[in-house]
Amino acid sequence: MNAPATAPADQSNAPAWVRHQKLRQWVSEVAALAKPEEIVWCDGSQEEYDRLCAELVRRGTFIRLSDKLRPNSFLARSHPGDVARMEERTFICSREKADAGPTNNWVDPREMRATLHRLFDGCMRGRTMYVVPFSMGPVGSPIAQVGVEITDSAYVAVSMKVMTRMGRRVIDWLGIDGAFVPCVHSVGSPLEADQKDVPWPTNEKEKWIVHFPETREIWSFGSGYGGNALLGKKCLALRIASVMARDEGWLAEHMLILGMESPTGEKTYISAAFPSACGKTNLAMLIPPDAFKGWKVTTVGEDIAWIKPGKDGRFRAINPEAGLFGVAPGTSEKTNPNAMKMLHSNVIFTNVALTPEGDVWWEGMTAEPPKRLIDWQGKEWTPEDGKKGRLAAHPNARFTVPASQCPSLDANWEDPQGVPISAFVFGGRRSSTVPLVVEAPTWEDGVYMAATLGSETTAAITGKVGVVRRDPMAMIAFVGYNMGDYFGHWLKMGNAVAYPPKIFRVNWFRRDSSGRFIWPGYGENMRVLQWIVDRCQGRAQGVPTPLGTMPRFQDLEWRGLENLSQSDFDELARIDAHAWQEELASHDELFTKLGDRLPGSLEGRRARLHEILR
Ligand code: GTP
Ligand code: SPV
Ligand code: MN
Repeated sequence: MNAPATAPADQSNAPAWVRHQKLRQWVSEVAALAKPEEIVWCDGSQEEYDRLCAELVRRGTFIRLSDKLRPNSFLARSHPGDVARMEERTFICSREKADAGPTNNWVDPREMRATLHRLFDGCMRGRTMYVVPFSMGPVGSPIAQVGVEITDSAYVAVSMKVMTRMGRRVIDWLGIDGAFVPCVHSVGSPLEADQKDVPWPTNEKEKWIVHFPETREIWSFGSGYGGNALLGKKCLALRIASVMARDEGWLAEHMLILGMESPTGEKTYISAAFPSACGKTNLAMLIPPDAFKGWKVTTVGEDIAWIKPGKDGRFRAINPEAGLFGVAPGTSEKTNPNAMKMLHSNVIFTNVALTPEGDVWWEGMTAEPPKRLIDWQGKEWTPEDGKKGRLAAHPNARFTVPASQCPSLDANWEDPQGVPISAFVFGGRRSSTVPLVVEAPTWEDGVYMAATLGSETTAAITGKVGVVRRDPMAMIAFVGYNMGDYFGHWLKMGNAVAYPPKIFRVNWFRRDSSGRFIWPGYGENMRVLQWIVDRCQGRAQGVPTPLGTMPRFQDLEWRGLENLSQSDFDELARIDAHAWQEELASHDELFTKLGDRLPGSLEGRRARLHEILR
């Protein structure tokens, strides 16, 4: 006779409110592999957040900032080798290499699973394993996706409380058998008996950020920073979600969502993609200059947009996040006053400088730096050091803050239906070649423009800064499948709605011969946004050019910006035939790489541009 089947013992330490057997089982399995000292399920309460923050202070990971100057806020300093996303350590492990495509790192999933087994075996020894249930999108909404992140970092657990809807309400919604994306994260730094912990544990030898798109799983090892570790953000809401979006007919994009309200109360929503550290947060929170009396910009999201065809024949966009993980350097009363207000309390700062009064500082916050600081690595810093080029804050220093504190937050930001999108805008950092603003004549032309987006690299990723690379749709690092198929999906999505948005390309970053930005940027970007909105509403004029429709000088509002001359504008709008031949050669390089997965209509457009830009 067969022995009765016995379920394996539940090792998950789950509280009674977790009734989901598969979840308990998965947590038990990960615990058996990673061998943590204890397991803690996060309920998402304020009490829990305060307790974990206090513990992070006790362990030296957090420094509590002045309760007067920056209430309920903390500073974390990372390990100097763990400061940004690591694209070269990010993997898409589809069964077939061609399905990850030439723009992603790929390893055979069987081989990767063996590697992960080796890495995670005992990797949480001596540490607490937190189980962090989270929802991307409002809990219970039909568009939300649930994930559960297992992590041995309390810093990650508290950050997830800010960045997502996190805790027991997500478990309640999952019920006994709801679907979730399993996400496993370890800093990869087990504590052996009597070993003293460090403020920012990390694995100095190896880091891995791994996605299995077919089974929708995420595994991350060795880093505690940002997108490497907060797995709801780039890993789930972009890489895994892009695969879901392809399969289900929607878009998961690296885009901000903003609303523009005209003096008559007309509301137009725009979604805009810029590569990392290229101005999404700034644009999403823009305050219009004085000349735009009665205009208002509101914020729905500033990093990620999920966009679905709506019943009204328009694309509807939601922001799946609940917080901002924004670039600190360059943020000031001048460049982003809304952000400065938002950062008054309840903020986790990472890798900024500390003032003697217990407040924070970063390059660009004030014209004059404070006389004395502790830099992002914990060392004494004076303005003399700054003059020698030593930075007080790391260029990818960030703030983590609840979206609810954003002063320009849109009234509909949590509407599960999403907001209707009238325009898609794509922008990169380009010192030359690319004009201030161009409108694509058709959806297909717009997809070509977006697919060939180029940008100079920033400190948001490890590696060389300032080199131009192709960054299609600002998604080079975030498409969880073959880039050629992604272009095909975009082309197809133009037919998914009766009223597809207009597509624009912008560039705030063109420089003159002395290296200065010609365009003032920041709040002044309103001048371009207004033209875009007026084009969508059928009001603004423009002229056809080989690249698409562009405004003439007289088509933009210039009141309050008298020092930008017509000749400056001409330089911003200039299409240099020689530079464009080089540009097209670089488009060709990307297209050649994509081979037979590249949709034919994009190659046709490239060939035509080559002819007309001669
Ligand atoms: P991620 O969060 O990394 O995805 O980036 P983001 O696109 O939200 O970046 P963010 O808005 O935080 O960009 C910050 C950097 O862009 C800072 O260095 C800013 O000074 C710079 N920046 C933003 N807007 C402008 C602009 O209009 N002109 C210029 N010249 N720089 C800008
Ligand atoms: C980006 O790099 O695009 C970010 C920051 O938004 S991170 O969350 O670290 O990916
Ligand atoms: Mn981003």
